[in-house]
Formats: sequence, structure tokens, C-alpha cells
Amino acid sequence: MEKLRLGVLASGRGSNLQSIMDACGNGDIPAEVVVVISDQGTALALERARKAGIAAHFVDIKSFSDKAAYEQTIVDILKQNQVQLVCLAGYMRLVGPTLLQAFHNQIMNIHPALLPSFPGRHGQLDALNYGVKVSGCTVHFVDEGMDTGPIILQTTVPVLDDDNEETLAARILEQEHQLYPRAIKLFAEGRLKLQGRRVVVI
Ligand code: GRF
Repeated sequence: MEKLRLGVLASGRGSNLQSIMDACGNGDIPAEVVVVISDQGTALALERARKAGIAAHFVDIKSFSDKAAYEQTIVDILKQNQVQLVCLAGYMRLVGPTLLQAFHNQIMNIHPALLPSFPGRHGQLDALNYGVKVSGCTVHFVDEGMDTGPIILQTTVPVLDDDNEETLAARILEQEHQLYPRAIKLFAEGRLKLQGRRVVVI
């Protein structure tokens, strides 16, 4: 089977990127990361990509007149690399129309909470402060909203009485590293079907 060509957008440490690269490398998923793009020049994600021999680009939003121009540069890099699925992995920006239109239903994100609860930057802390007893992570397709797109897969973890943000985040992250490759595998195998806003596995 032809390998699915992945482009990963990441702003930070890139542990999800690493789990995706590892799953590709092991042959667990019929895919390969062909390019990594970051909006942060110092992102560890870029280093991880370079170490693995994968093209890594820093695209500085400050050098563009607007977000559309910034995103068009990202689209150009993704298209040059014939990317078929874009994976956001700790990419800390809202995706705009330029990227969304270029990769319609071909952008995934991972979020460290059980959506639609606790979207946004502090999913783990918001869940903890709310007092939920179960949290988890969600892989979803990306739309114009903040963590609002169709849900692909979710995993739960318990919230323990003595948890703090760090311990809960670590428990969730462990599951993220399993869940994201599973979702990518389903996509690569052509097994994800959108029915309205429901994603069914065929
Ligand atoms: C993860 O918790 C992910 O769910 C969220 O941002 C974090 C990124 O971590 N979107 P990493 O950069 O993949 O280590």
C-alpha cells in the first residue's frame, strides 16, 4: 500500500509528533511524516524532525502582512511535499480559511480533554478545576472553530483526588501518544467516513 504523506504542524516540544514518527517508522501505520512546520523557531518539534531526517520549516508569522499570506506559505510547503493529511500536534494557532480550504477535511488535531468539554489552551486544568472525575483526549477533524470539528476518536483517563495539572496532563499525554497514531491509521486505511458531523469507522 502507498504510504499516506503527512505534514505536521507543531509549536512546541513535539511529543505527539514523535509518537507519530515512531508509529510510521515501526510500520504501525501506513504513513510517513514528510514535512514538519512550526510557527516557533525554537520549537523542539523542529529538532525532532531534523534528527529523523525529515524536512523542517520555521514559518514566522511576523514576516507576513496578514494571516492569509502566512497560511498560504504553509499551504505551499505542504503542497510541494504532496501532503495528504495535515496533523496539528500542539499547534497553538487557530487554523484560518486559507489552510482549511486547501486541505478540506484533511486536517486533524489532538486535544487534551473530552470535547466538546474544555476546549482551548488549558483543557487539562479546566477539567480539573471543574471537578470532573473522568477526562481524556480527543482527535478531531479541524474546522473554523476552536476545537469544534467532528470527533474521530476519544480515550478516557480517571481524574484522581490528588491530581494537579501536571499529573493529569501526564496521564492524558500517555494516551494521546496512542490515540493520534490510531486515528491516522484509520484515515490512511480510508476507514473514516463523515456523515454530517459524525465520523464513523467503516
Ligand atoms: C498536547 O497536550 C496536545 O493535546 C495539545 O498540545 C499538547 C502538545 O504536546 N494540543 P506535544 O508538543 O505534542 O508534546
